[in-house]
Amino acid sequence: MRDAVGRIQSVLLVGGSSEIGLAIVRGLPRADAVVVRLAGPDRPDMERAADALRQEGVGRVEIVDFDACAVGDQTHVVAAACADEPDVVIIATGYLGDQPTAERDPAAAARIVDINFRGLVPLLVGVAQHLRGQGHGTLVVMSTVAGERPRVANYTYGAAKAGLDAFARGLAASLAGSGVNVVVVRPGFVRTRMTAHLKPAPFSTTPDKVADAVATAIARGSRIVWVPGILRWVMMVLRHLPETLFRRLPG
Ligand SMILES: NC(=O)c1ccc[n+]([C@@H]2O[C@H](COP(=O)([O-])OP(=O)(O)OC[C@H]3O[C@@H](n4cnc5c(N)ncnc54)[C@H](OP(=O)(O)O)[C@@H]3O)[C@@H](O)[C@H]2O)c1
Repeated sequence: MRDAVGRIQSVLLVGGSSEIGLAIVRGLPRADAVVVRLAGPDRPDMERAADALRQEGVGRVEIVDFDACAVGDQTHVVAAACADEPDVVIIATGYLGDQPTAERDPAAAARIVDINFRGLVPLLVGVAQHLRGQGHGTLVVMSTVAGERPRVANYTYGAAKAGLDAFARGLAASLAGSGVNVVVVRPGFVRTRMTAHLKPAPFSTTPDKVADAVATAIARGSRIVWVPGILRWVMMVLRHLPETLFRRLPG
């Protein structure tokens, strides 16, 4: 529950080592006694993130094990979310995978879908139910422009993210009037470890810019955020481009 001056007292970051997720946590107006919970599969990564947050003055940081591919792990995360009244829950889990491998290996394709979509649905259902019960809170879901129109380079990831994006928008509609807002974030290329091996695409941005846009969206109660904002109009055009032209575009 936010404090008397509207500062956040409890945050859950799913994707607890995510560069974008951690930048979002850092960009939130937080109370001195804030509790930050980090959920993810890699404890050492999250311990490092937790130490950094403590040094920056975060009152309490807790770690929750979560592998999106492990059936049942979602229950721990929902239980962690229910430990108090979270003000903000951020879903920043993501896995780009390797598209050529996913075309040869069904298990590799399924892993991309599991981490980006299937493994997050039970978590979203549980967290949303809890937020609805408490009657307040914001759920931030990291989508991507890659879900807007499939590209040869990453269409399995794009398809999984499109599923997540649609699910989150449906959830937003079902939570209307409950006091809970769902913010769907659609960044373009963000320079993080996830994309470190790739050539930056046009309109590339940084985790801090995404965090600024998310903080503004939470404050305004916005539903969909494009980062940078111009991508909303770029994608409106690209969505209607003939397939032959679309395929020739770089990136
Ligand atoms: N970077 C971009 O260009 C970009 C653009 C648009 C949207 N996004 C989305 O933004 C979000 C954050 O991305 P990022 O750039 O900050 O990347 P990142 O630092 O690699 O974060 C991805 C997070 O997902 C976690 N993860 C990976 N496999 C998992 C699994 N099996 N179960 C549970 N968690 C798992 C990672 O945990 P580990 O510590 O184990 O790696 C990490 O915490 C993602 O949803 C991503 O799809 C990124």
